Amino acid sequence: MSTIKFTARKISDAATVTSQCAVLPVFTRRRLSAAAKQLDETSSGAIGDALALGDIAGKSGEILFLPGAGSARRLLLVGCGDPARFDRAAARKFCRTVYTALNRTKAKDAVIHVADLQVTDADHAWLLDYLARELTCSAYRYTETVSKPKSALTLRRVVIDTGGALTARKAQAALDSGHCTGLGVNTARNLANLPGNVCTPDYLAQQARTLGRGNAKLSVSVLDEKKMQGLGMGALLSVAAGSEQPARLIVMHYKGGKKDDKPYVLVGKGITFDSGGISLKPGAKMDEMKFDMGGAASVFGTLRAVAEMALPLNVVGIVAAAENMPSGRATKPGDVVTSMSGKTIEVLNTDAEGRLVLCDALTYAERFKPRAVIDIATLTGACVVALGAHASGLYANRDELAQQLLDAGTASHDRAWRMPLWEDYQRQLKSNFADLANIGGPGGGSITAACFLANFTENYHWAHLDIAGSAWDSSPKGATGRPVALLTRYLMDRAGR
Ligand code: BES
Ligand code: MN
Ligand code: ZN
Repeated sequence: MSTIKFTARKISDAATVTSQCAVLPVFTRRRLSAAAKQLDETSSGAIGDALALGDIAGKSGEILFLPGAGSARRLLLVGCGDPARFDRAAARKFCRTVYTALNRTKAKDAVIHVADLQVTDADHAWLLDYLARELTCSAYRYTETVSKPKSALTLRRVVIDTGGALTARKAQAALDSGHCTGLGVNTARNLANLPGNVCTPDYLAQQARTLGRGNAKLSVSVLDEKKMQGLGMGALLSVAAGSEQPARLIVMHYKGGKKDDKPYVLVGKGITFDSGGISLKPGAKMDEMKFDMGGAASVFGTLRAVAEMALPLNVVGIVAAAENMPSGRATKPGDVVTSMSGKTIEVLNTDAEGRLVLCDALTYAERFKPRAVIDIATLTGACVVALGAHASGLYANRDELAQQLLDAGTASHDRAWRMPLWEDYQRQLKSNFADLANIGGPGGGSITAACFLANFTENYHWAHLDIAGSAWDSSPKGATGRPVALLTRYLMDRAGR
């Protein structure tokens, strides 16, 4: 995968900087940034003329390409609207406009002049981080299973003119963290986009091993079905029972902190295809159930970002990987299985399989004496009904942890919304034949799924992200890489970055 190199620079005269494209913010009321003024002068007023002629008014989202000026081969003017209203939403639109326009050119390098851009409700580091992340994400192309992939982005090097708001070191650090986050997001997207016949539980295990080989701080172990049997993971194994593909429990241990630092543990739902099992899903959009390992993909992506940044933390990634299929050996509605915790579960619906693989992975997480455990899962259609695509559902058994995750979501614009874990909902999970039922009836489906998991996470600080609505888009179809940006921001905050 091609990627972009980002460099922060303080540029005093934009006209003297050699580049294939100079990107210049322009504001309404014909106000030019300092860099735009400098390039305007060397181009005998071409920028001022374009504004005077009305070819670009400076409104948010507008763009105009002009021939080169000074040492820049092209100029790209980007409307930013009223500078007094240049908030985070406007800044996000600016970033989107820039990468969309640059993706249409053949420029190999660009200088983006953001020195004069002041975001009203965020600092300059936020802007640099977000810009580098968005540009990195815009370079992603899915290529694995297409014979003629879309043409790659030609952009290789980006210089960001940062002005004096930040020290050179802080500006570069913000670009680097955004770039690393983007790489993590792209890693998650790529894994989740792979079809179920390629991305099997064992394929995920191989990917983990590959990731581990590339980093001395990352050690990887994979538990096969026999090992899981030995640990008593009857819930996880019951999901894989109908599939030809054996289940895998993948453990990735990133050791960036001190030896005794308690780790943050991320647990991902890795259902590489969810047919529903004997409780078979209807046919429409069933293909999208290849994305049912989006939680697992986000664990891979976050670990990649954390490792690229070399965060001084210990992080364990656990992926519960299985395929949910119907067959003569498949688990049936009414079957009772015993989880690793010893709790028995009546499987009333084999399509509620995510919680079955997660409960054993969450019990397994106890052995790491975690500081906090966060599971990430495309868990319920009900969460899509409740929150749609914009927010991931957040549940937590500690208010402080919930707030930290909400804040990380806001900062990274990968937002979550907290939902209740009240005891009242637990009643919906009662069974006559086991300690728990795996479904909670028609009301509050995302909540009862989270309540089911809460039965297995009483011994540590725990949060659950239901990403059923946020993990992928249906048109055009593709994984979003969420919530890698949220999780990476959360871990950076813990590391004091
Ligand atoms: N993977 C699905 C959840 C899902 C559905 C995510 C649609 C995204 C879009 C999960 O395994 C599932 O099937 N959940 C059931 C639970 C029900 C049987 C209690 C659901 O949501 O219908
Ligand atoms: Mn299901
Ligand atoms: Zn599922």
